Amino acid sequence: MNINFFVLPTLLLGCQVAMAQPAKASPADFQTTLWAVSCMACHGTDGKAEGVGLTLHGKTSQELTDTLLAFKSGKKTGTIMDQHAKGYSDEELKRIAIYFSQLK
Ligand code: HEC
Repeated sequence: MNINFFVLPTLLLGCQVAMAQPAKASPADFQTTLWAVSCMACHGTDGKAEGVGLTLHGKTSQELTDTLLAFKSGKKTGTIMDQHAKGYSDEELKRIAIYFSQLK
């Protein structure tokens, strides 16, 4: 059996998937969704988690971005978020903020 019989179609499929990606990612692209999913464990799938300071729902993308950047820079302190925000670039935090601001 020829190994290329399996490898070639897989490579071609991989190329097609890669080409299907938009050249420039939109705020609600798949990568942003994956980042946002990591937040949902604590903040709820719709950003409406119960608990003090855990609700992201109803906040604008600007408010969320400002808060996340404040956690990242150390201007705002917390038990978790100051550490968590440091794991993302400013642009990534902005994209995550836009994602949560658009949830209904
Ligand atoms: C392990 C649980 C956990 C995860 C994961 C988590 N957070 Fe938080 N978040 C908290 C807690 C707890 C607070 C309250 C501040 C603190 O103690 O750090 C908070 C506070 C916030 C606040 C401020 C809310 C307010 O009204 O003051 C924002 C914005 C926020 N988180 C966004 C995010 C985003 C975006 C992510 C994903 C990148 C995320 N969080 C991931 C637990 C978490």
